[in-house]
Parts: sequence; C-alpha cells; structure tokens
Amino acid sequence: MALPSEVLRVDNRGEEPQRARRAVAPHARDLYAKVSHAIPAIEWPIYAADIDAIMTLKRTRNAVVLAHNYQTPEIFHCVSDIVGDSLALAREAMNVDADVIVLAGVHFMAETAKLLNPDKTVLIPDLGAGCSLAESITPEDVRRLRRTYPGVPVVTYVNTSAAVKAESDICCTSGNAKAVVESLGVDRVIMLPDEFLARNIAAQTKVKIINWSGHCEVHELFTAAEVRELREDYPGVVVLAHPECPPEVVAEADFSGSTAAMQAYVARHRPARLVLLTECSMSDNVAVQYPELEFVRPCNLCPHMKKITLGNIRRALETMHHEVRIDPAIAARARVAVERMLAVS
Ligand code: 13P
Ligand code: SF4
Repeated sequence: MALPSEVLRVDNRGEEPQRARRAVAPHARDLYAKVSHAIPAIEWPIYAADIDAIMTLKRTRNAVVLAHNYQTPEIFHCVSDIVGDSLALAREAMNVDADVIVLAGVHFMAETAKLLNPDKTVLIPDLGAGCSLAESITPEDVRRLRRTYPGVPVVTYVNTSAAVKAESDICCTSGNAKAVVESLGVDRVIMLPDEFLARNIAAQTKVKIINWSGHCEVHELFTAAEVRELREDYPGVVVLAHPECPPEVVAEADFSGSTAAMQAYVARHRPARLVLLTECSMSDNVAVQYPELEFVRPCNLCPHMKKITLGNIRRALETMHHEVRIDPAIAARARVAVERMLAVS
C-alpha cells in the first residue's frame, strides 16, 4: 500500500548569493503569490521580515532548513530547502552539503539527522518539540521486551529517542514499515512503539507482530464514525488516512500511507474533493500545490510540530541554538538501526 517516499525541492534553493541578497523584497512578494491561499495578506509583512532574515542567515551560516510535511505553509513553502516525510528527511539528511542543518520538525527528526551527520551542526528551534510516541517508551522497556520474547527482532519506528533506537535491530517509518518487517525473513517481530501503526501493518503482512501501547496524540483522535459522517456530508469525498490512525479508521479510508504517500496519491489521482486524516498543516501545504481541489478539513493540530515558527528558526540561525547532541556510545548503536532501515528502502 505504501508508495515510495518523495522529496520536493522548493524553489528558493541554489540562488547565487549576491543576486538573492538584492532580490529579497521581490522574492518575498513572489513567495506570497504561492502561499496566498493559505496565509492572509495582513499577516504577510510579519512573515516576510523573518523570511528575509532567514534567507540571509542561511547563506552566512552555510545552512539548510529541512522541514516536515506538518510545518506551516510559511515555513514549508518559503524557507525550506528540503521537505518531506520522516523517511525522506532521513534520506536527504545524508546528502546535505552544508555545515548546519536546521530541522523544522520534532526532536526525533533532528536526532535522526544528527545520527546521519555526526560532523554537522544540527539545530532544533525549540527543544520542546517532542512527540507522544517518542515519550511512550524507554530503553529499559525495550530491554524488557527482549527478555520476554528472546530472539525476536525489534523494529522501531523512527518516532523514538536515539536511546530507544540504540536498543533496536532496525528502524522503520510509516513509509517503509511493511518492507522493513518483511525484509527480516522471520515469522515474528516486535514493532514499537505505535500500537496502531503495528496493527495496520499486521493487516498487510503474514509476519506476526507483537506491539507496544504507544499512540500518536493527533491521529488517535480520528474515529470511524467521523469518516462515515464525512462521506454523508461531502458526497464523493476521497478519504486518505495516516497509518497512525486507529485500524477502524484506516479500514473506512480509501487510502492509507505516510504523509509523502498521501501527497503522491493526490498528485497521481487529483480527487476533486478529498480529506486528509492527519495533522492540519498537511492539507494546507498540499492545497497550495493543488488550489483546484476541494480539501475538506477536519484535522488535528500537533502541538509539538506547531512549536516551530519562522521566529525561532531565525533565532536558531542567529544564536546557533539548540544544538542536538547525542552520547557517542548511544549514537553508534542507533545509527546502525537507522542505516539498516535505509538499506532496505
Ligand atoms: P510521516 O513519516 O508519514 O511523515 O509521519 C511522521 C509523523 O510524525 C506522523 O505523525
Ligand atoms: Fe508525534 Fe503525532 Fe506529532 Fe507526529 S503528529 S510528531 S507522531 S505527536
């Protein structure tokens, strides 16, 4: 079901420095044309000042901004060099040709970028940008599971701390979970920490999956009854659901996949009326690219993703805070689990 992860390169990349410096104000105007469906005109002058400053700081610091699909449109479309799902951001982090990476996303994403770029400076604009899934499990929980199920490989969702990854055999994302599970050639795996992702993958494979009880606080809120109501209220609506949603929601949807897979579905099928059962900014960002499509928007905000703003991206580049650091002994083991995943996909 999952489609290959996709990376979009936004068009503020690769400008020759002098030209870009002179062109900042018109550039901000051009950018506004792109995001005008998502951002009220009255707010734009405030954003434009930060965008201008971030563009300059990126050049002086030799920095790039990697942004997750849940970042708000002014971040996603206006200051990011690379955007995508967790898998794409991990993959692209390896190819970054810059001294500094600013991760516009949550902490586990910044840690993954650091694992793959130990010699680069990786900044997260707000240390409070966490994740309910990453919070749901500790390294000791993983060691206990291994004692309970000796010899059963541990597949760990990237939405975890580096310390939990270090206790794992291999990582996965929502974009490659089935492929990772099946790559191990075993009949049973432990898959953690997302209960719903594990159950949704179990429905697609013969491999038996032992799960954990973590949930995404954003996706666990969607219900099957809501999907049925949507279909009644919006005839013909095509329903796309992230696999962190409960299995009964995924069962009611027309398609389920990672944020990149949802984006790819929209690009391929262009459904006239659709709903994305996921974090709110995802629809905003996709709608910027497809203004002709009708996006029905019941959505849930991720409070962690929303901690990242243009203002704190700017401050991160001005002050070089907050730098992500990982204990080298933990990083060495966690990196193996992430690299094994990247070798599969
Ligand atoms: P994706 O890997 O699909 O982008 O999902 C990350 C995430 O945090 C979803 O809540
Ligand atoms: Fe974590 Fe859910 Fe937020 Fe994604 S949307 S970062 S899984 S809390």
